[in-house]
Amino acid sequence: MKHETIQLTFDPLTAKEIERASSLVKEKLSDSAVFCSVALVEPAKSLESSVDRSSGRGSRQLRLNGYEYESSRTDGGFEATVDLCVEEVRLKRIEDGQAPIGFADVVRAIQITKADEGWQEAMRKRGVTEFELIQIDPWPAGGYQHPSIPLGHRAHRAISFVREDAKDNGYARPVHGLIAHVDLTEGKVAHLEDHGVVPLPPESARYSAEHQASLEPSLSPLEIQQSQGPGFRVEENRIEWRNWEFGVSIHPVNGLVLHRLSYRDGDRLRPILHRAALSDMVVPYGDTDPMHVWKHVLDAGEASLGNCVNSLKLGCDCVGEIFYLDHYAIKPDGSARTIERAICVHEEDYGILWKHHDGLSRTTEVRRSRRLVVSSFYTVGNYEYGFYWYLYLDGTIEMEVKLTGIVGVSAVNEGSERPEFAPLVAPNVASPIHQHLFCFRLDFEVDGPTNRVYEVNVEAEPISDENPDGTAFRANPTLLESEVQARRQVNASSSRVWKVVNPNSLNRLGKPVGYKLVPSATAASLATKQSKVAQRAGFAQYNFWATPFDEGRLCAAGDYPNLHPGGDGLARWTEQDRSIVDQDIVVWHTFGSTHLPRPEDWPVMPVEYCGFTLKPDGFFDRNPSINLPPQDHCIDIGADEPSSKANDS
Ligand code: CO
Repeated sequence: MKHETIQLTFDPLTAKEIERASSLVKEKLSDSAVFCSVALVEPAKSLESSVDRSSGRGSRQLRLNGYEYESSRTDGGFEATVDLCVEEVRLKRIEDGQAPIGFADVVRAIQITKADEGWQEAMRKRGVTEFELIQIDPWPAGGYQHPSIPLGHRAHRAISFVREDAKDNGYARPVHGLIAHVDLTEGKVAHLEDHGVVPLPPESARYSAEHQASLEPSLSPLEIQQSQGPGFRVEENRIEWRNWEFGVSIHPVNGLVLHRLSYRDGDRLRPILHRAALSDMVVPYGDTDPMHVWKHVLDAGEASLGNCVNSLKLGCDCVGEIFYLDHYAIKPDGSARTIERAICVHEEDYGILWKHHDGLSRTTEVRRSRRLVVSSFYTVGNYEYGFYWYLYLDGTIEMEVKLTGIVGVSAVNEGSERPEFAPLVAPNVASPIHQHLFCFRLDFEVDGPTNRVYEVNVEAEPISDENPDGTAFRANPTLLESEVQARRQVNASSSRVWKVVNPNSLNRLGKPVGYKLVPSATAASLATKQSKVAQRAGFAQYNFWATPFDEGRLCAAGDYPNLHPGGDGLARWTEQDRSIVDQDIVVWHTFGSTHLPRPEDWPVMPVEYCGFTLKPDGFFDRNPSINLPPQDHCIDIGADEPSSKANDS
């Protein structure tokens, strides 16, 4: 499994590499430059097969982004590509959009807002005179940069919340109607938007245990032990579990990434996905209130989701026999930031995998399902996102996104609530309806790179001589031939799925092997096509897209959506309407949650779930888990009673 060159090119970045690269870049920049993100430039697919494994020669490239706060600058910051093998730096100014939001931006936006006399005066009008405890949330200015901020300057919209003490939940008391448009480049509040005073809501919303009136009795202990250790093996960032083999990493925009996911089928290692990860996401708000109407943060492309990855805690975030992988990111000054235990790997029992009771012989065969879980969790402002890849014993692959944290809020006067846009979640606290839309990029290589996609709809058969009772329904496959034709929506009423097949690899029934994408009941973007969010997050207009593979195109809204007016990314690329038949294709799947906030989402929302499943469809010749040995106590020794001694679930 270990080849020198592949290790050299695919391994996650080390702290030493990040610091060496940033010091090389700094030599070419002014002292005011700060960094906001670093990523490994994954080796070009075309080079992967041609790298010289024996000599260990390859390239090791890092991409670093950052910016300067210099008022003369009207570009979007810098993109530096560093080849560590030859210590070479290629520096490019970003012309289309801006480098993503960095830690330096956030700190600066908070300081600028709090120091602004107009903002202070507006806070005093609201009865707030102490500014030390005020929580400022800087939001991306999106495609709505205020006209007082010159194009090319970095910008935020800062909104405020009042805390009673340092550990209070500030979201209980939103300062409604007040938005500071911060020009980060100039270092000033360029415009203060004040829609009038709304009183602060009366209740606090503390969620820690010590602030609850009483606590429920503790749950009885539930311990998960694997006395002989877990069933997976990790070497560097490569993981093997049962028949599955893959690599894992964290990318600053894409977050958790699976690389080269393959299934060992006898003596063949069969590729399925070359790379699978989030490509971007957007959270459009539906409310017409001026506090929210502009909000549609691209948490991945604008805010660098991957930089927000949590350090996980055993027994709290993850339970069982856990293996953790660390992650390294970059600080504004170019030094490395270590996130220990960023990726969690473990096995989970998952109930019954398959079962049958034979009534005549009164025998039962049952196998238990188990899945490998690879996950990571991210905090982006008020919200948390967990991304969970599940691999199953029957060849199923699943992505589950977990959404939790604190919902966005408005303070509302008694009697002026508009529940169609923002239902009440607590007295005088309303929460705008919104969506969380995730676009996953799935670079398929089902038994190799030459693939095609069918959409399959199941439809009623008209009454005919062959179907006199009108009971028949049939599966109708349609070959998706070009990019425009492949822009599709989910359709639960026809049980719509998309099937990726390899026409050159046939199963024992003579049919092309395939995997099908089974979507959930999900909406696409609900905003109008004319809206800023539709232009800036075009990927959210459709649930399904397919494109030919393009080297380096990993992000569905384009590389630099921060402060980008829109029009880049999937919507633009697919205008070419290229053929997607029998070539290396990439599937992009947008799904998510349309969130109508409930009182139960307050003060912290219980996890909401969304995701999709990839199921083998003719990829195997039969149930690939048929030869799984039964667990010791499940071996059927003669007849048993089918109903009274049911196997547990
Ligand atoms: Co939500």
